[in-house]
Amino acid sequence: CSQPLVDAFQRRISYLRLSVTDRCDLRCSYCMPERMTFLPKKDVLSLEELHKLGLAFIDRGISKIRLTGGEPLVRRDVIELVQALGRKLGDGLDELTLTTNGTRLEEFAQPLFEAGVRRVNVSLDTMDGALFEELSRRDRLLPVLRGIAEAKRVGLKVKINTVALKDINQDEIPFLVEWAGANGHDMTLIEVMPLGEVEGERVDHYLPLPAVRDVLEERFTLTDIADTTGGPARYVRVEETGGRLGFITPLTNNFCATCNRIRVTATGELYACLGGAEKVDLRAALRSDAPDANVAAALDEAMRIKPERHHFNHVRGAAPAQPRHMSVTGG
Ligand code: GTP
Ligand code: 5AD
Ligand code: SF4
Repeated sequence: CSQPLVDAFQRRISYLRLSVTDRCDLRCSYCMPERMTFLPKKDVLSLEELHKLGLAFIDRGISKIRLTGGEPLVRRDVIELVQALGRKLGDGLDELTLTTNGTRLEEFAQPLFEAGVRRVNVSLDTMDGALFEELSRRDRLLPVLRGIAEAKRVGLKVKINTVALKDINQDEIPFLVEWAGANGHDMTLIEVMPLGEVEGERVDHYLPLPAVRDVLEERFTLTDIADTTGGPARYVRVEETGGRLGFITPLTNNFCATCNRIRVTATGELYACLGGAEKVDLRAALRSDAPDANVAAALDEAMRIKPERHHFNHVRGAAPAQPRHMSVTGG
């Protein structure tokens, strides 16, 4: 490949999170308000542009691409992008994967597998139908569970993503850990992050994961393991289920020193950090009269401006760390 992507802190960037849409068919209350303002459709990159960007990143040493949203599977042509990028697997690309809320996974699992995807991350904060509807403001638990089952059936490895929420799913977490382990799914617990305004205060539901781990250890034997998926989670083995459980702790245990990631929004803005405002405009570069040179220059600029770390905290009444929602950068 051409010059690999290395930032000012000598971190090698090998993992691209590429958002294909900021739209979503759920409205999880910690993520976005019911009346969410989405990016103007006319600004969203075309499939060809997303593909072109993917290739440019692979040329610069990106070996893992995760398609995100919003909900990536609400974009109707997304499977064509997966198929196009899937052709780079084994030829610069080691992993092509997706983070999804699962509502349309039943339909897409087989074509994803056929395009070369081997692993998907599915967000699931509760297995209680009424709580699911309250939390996501949509009654969609059953399709999600069918989607997870179908993914497993076609041979996709599933990682369950659960945001730990005080007084919401807190008491259900041990059950979810048990269920994931019993079904052969990896699982990661996630600390809620202050990104974008929501109704209510996230601080009221913020649950530090070290406390969750303490509670889990009353019931399970957790053994630290060195496994990594290349993401931010630190993993343990749950001896009772044999399952792998990860902790994503942006608030209580910062992992930015080992950051290997950048993210691109559906409108082609590259954000150098999930928690920062630093960005470069890849859409302008793509649509310029010298796209290859300008995209390459924009990537160099992104490496110069990538900050050392985020500074998330939860303070009652304070503005979020960034005004944009997680759904804009796909987490
Ligand atoms: P794996 O490849 O399975 O390791 O996936 P992943 O954890 O990298 O991706 P996923 O989409 O499952 O993300 C899980 C959670 O981690 C989401 O809430 C993301 O927002 C969060 N996350 C991923 N990367 C970062 C990061 O660099 N910083 C912070 N603060 N959170 C991140
Ligand atoms: N903080 C933490 N996680 C969030 N997610 C969405 N919004 C937030 C937030 N503010 C989660 C989703 C999904 C993952 C990609 O990010 O639940 O599992
Ligand atoms: Fe949609 Fe994911 Fe946000 Fe929930 S967390 S509203 S599924 S983007």
